[in-house]
Amino acid sequence: MTEFKILVTSQKGGVGKSTVSANLAAYICRQGKKVALLDYDLHGSSSKWLKGAPQIGIDINHSPLPLEVGGTRPMHEARQKLRRLSYSNEIVIADLTWTDSMTAEFLFEFDMVIVPTSVSEIELNATSEFLQRFRWVFESTIHIPPKLLICPTRVHDDQMSGDSIFKQRFPFRLMLSPAILESNSARKLFQRGFISDLNDACGVSFTEFGSAVLSVVEEQNKISRKNQASTNNSRMQALLRLAAKYEASIRSVV
Ligand SMILES: Nc1ncnc2c1ncn2[C@@H]1O[C@H](COP(=O)(O)OP(=O)(O)OP(=O)(O)O)[C@@H](O)[C@H]1O
Ligand SMILES: [Mg+2]
Repeated sequence: MTEFKILVTSQKGGVGKSTVSANLAAYICRQGKKVALLDYDLHGSSSKWLKGAPQIGIDINHSPLPLEVGGTRPMHEARQKLRRLSYSNEIVIADLTWTDSMTAEFLFEFDMVIVPTSVSEIELNATSEFLQRFRWVFESTIHIPPKLLICPTRVHDDQMSGDSIFKQRFPFRLMLSPAILESNSARKLFQRGFISDLNDACGVSFTEFGSAVLSVVEEQNKISRKNQASTNNSRMQALLRLAAKYEASIRSVV
């Protein structure tokens, strides 16, 4: 099974992490993928959302980080839980509020990091600080960096006049997803249903967002399958060379 791990995170509270996580899990599950939600937050909003909504086959997990114990245990447990879920699911979506006690290396566990933000000055500022701090992770050449996707959320129709606002703010390599619109109908769906099922502009915007994420996932999976095939191919070539060498030395002994 091709496993793909997505982290939805931000240091800022109330930006829409849980709404995005729960509804993205539902959207991807509806597209026929085996999906798990891993809710690391104590309040458990995204897992509560999915537990209360119609059950469509999402593997729902609430696994708050034991941050109070300190040391390396919380991150170790977070990693273990994530890896375990990724063995039995095609896509794992984790919902996490980032805090200073977390280690940046944890980000390398993921194939994609989604950072939701509204276009308000205060949230853009917080998002920019967060991204500057972890820029080295997303630009790493030593490890495989996760893809960074900024997701504008709770956006009003008239606020998205283009990508320029984000390009000026975040002048480094990142992807910008289609914006998710603000709507009361989205709020009301908590523990009841899924935003992509809404017949309004917000529902359409969420479907566009989900479909954009899924196309990146599929593109990435294609690339890693190709890389795997070429690694397998070079391994096979090396084995054949080794076999030929042994055969030659056996012949020379005989
Ligand atoms: N597209 C939207 N339209 C309207 N309201 C929204 C939308 N997305 C999120 N909200 C509302 O914004 C608030 C914060 O959303 P959410 O709980 O998803 O954020 P969060 O980042 O997970 O918060 P926390 O930091 O507390 O975990 C909630 O009241 C939610 O209903
Ligand atoms: Mg939350």
